[in-house]
Amino acid sequence: FKLPAIDNEPMKNYAPGSIERQKLKEAIDSMRAELPLEVPVVINGEKIFTGTTAKQFNPSDHAKVVCNYHEADASLIKKAIDGAMVAKARWESLPFNDRVAVFLKAADLLSSKYRYKIMAATMLGQGKNIWQAEIDAAAELCDFWRFNCKYAEEMYQIQPPKNAFGTWNRAEYRALDGFVLAVSPFNFTAIGGNLPSAPALMGNVVLWKPSPSAVLSNYLVYELLVEAGLPPGVVQFVPGPAEEVCATAIGHPEFSSLHYTGSTAVFRKLWKEIGNNIDKYTSYPRIVGETGGKNYHLLHPSLDEQGVRHAALQTIRGAFEFQGQKCSACSRAYIPQSLYPTFRKYLLEEHAKIKQGPSHEFEHFMGPVINRFAFDKIKGFIDHAQTDDNCQVLAGGKCDDSVGYFIEPTIIISKDAMTKTLTDEIFGPVVTLYVYEDNQFEQTCKLIQETTEYGLTGAFFARDRESIVKGSNLLRHTAGNFYINDKCTGAVVGQQPFGGGRASGTNDKAGSWSLLVRFISTRTIKENF
Ligand code: SER
Repeated sequence: FKLPAIDNEPMKNYAPGSIERQKLKEAIDSMRAELPLEVPVVINGEKIFTGTTAKQFNPSDHAKVVCNYHEADASLIKKAIDGAMVAKARWESLPFNDRVAVFLKAADLLSSKYRYKIMAATMLGQGKNIWQAEIDAAAELCDFWRFNCKYAEEMYQIQPPKNAFGTWNRAEYRALDGFVLAVSPFNFTAIGGNLPSAPALMGNVVLWKPSPSAVLSNYLVYELLVEAGLPPGVVQFVPGPAEEVCATAIGHPEFSSLHYTGSTAVFRKLWKEIGNNIDKYTSYPRIVGETGGKNYHLLHPSLDEQGVRHAALQTIRGAFEFQGQKCSACSRAYIPQSLYPTFRKYLLEEHAKIKQGPSHEFEHFMGPVINRFAFDKIKGFIDHAQTDDNCQVLAGGKCDDSVGYFIEPTIIISKDAMTKTLTDEIFGPVVTLYVYEDNQFEQTCKLIQETTEYGLTGAFFARDRESIVKGSNLLRHTAGNFYINDKCTGAVVGQQPFGGGRASGTNDKAGSWSLLVRFISTRTIKENF
């Protein structure tokens, strides 16, 4: 048995007049007519309408509810854990190729049958535009499912290298001893899908708590997995109040792993809770997290005009695509004095072309930010820049929450390298520029590392080989994903495994074998003949 060849999901181009554009529009229209949807908790395959509900809103128009979702409480979480532990015995004993079949089928179902529906839910519920939804809810999710299978297949073939005469040594890649808690973010439907799927592929059972701002798309992904053959109880879909769901799961003796993407602060809080419970556990938990970032673009003085223009365009894309709400988004840019006038000119030219509006209308490059909390927080950073004497708002800066949570793409320049918008994560459409003296390149590399606690992504723009090598070396510990002459967002599964270190996470790399390794517990077997 060998897996079919795995490749990246081809991207659709949605050209005006194309059949895919038409189909997506139909999916959006029919979903809008049906909203709000009712989303249950699902435990052991049973849909449970608990009656305690919360709402997910359309961020482009916050008077519209996209779903009412039923919440799990502590007693349902306990029931979910018990059911998962029963399902575990059967699931982990299934031959690997049968587990693989579920996820390969899921990818095919997404590609062919549910692409437009799940994209529509991502556009209406999470404020993604057509391209961002295609990259995420279609291509990246298919890629996660398929590439995980390929990496797992390769891993399972790694066996002890040597057998002494009369013995047979082998490695059995078992699931973890208990269950996995997957806590997923709003900003990528694909990450929502991957957080429960990667551990499940390795034979684990999972409690999946989706983000309150992505319940609709995540539930459709869950239903798709069930249609693909995921047995009841293997993944329990448990939206609910974060504290109660997480504390109950983390307080359980069979808790074996946290698979998390979200803010640094919440990750640290959960890690501490895990530490406080350590004496209870049957096994030491695996903690896997991808958290915040303060990602940068750095231009080197060696660039020619074409290089500066390219860097300006990439900065617009890195900073403002999906309203800067990617953990990888470019949030600060460092430009040598000699190149600043050219960079500024191209940056403002590109900025002036940006169209912003409701994310389901196809002509918009930018939509709203996700919710009231995000809107207020991002606005606070812009307000701060407006009152800081060292800062100037070069473009954008207006915030309007009268209909949706709209924040203009905002470019700030600061003379102070330590201003808040250069050091703190904003997670919104705000980029701050800092101009350095051309002869201060090495010091600027140091500054980039020392002014934040994060280490997720970074991009370095330079022309000649010597400068590229110099910058890469000086910036070695600033980013888990480092880009040369490209923007710092848009990692592709199977091409740029994704994740960062320092305060940005455990750097286990989504979309690679190194993530899957965290969800197995190897048994070494020696047999005498
Ligand atoms: N993988 C995404 C990117 O690279 C972030 O989660 O932009």
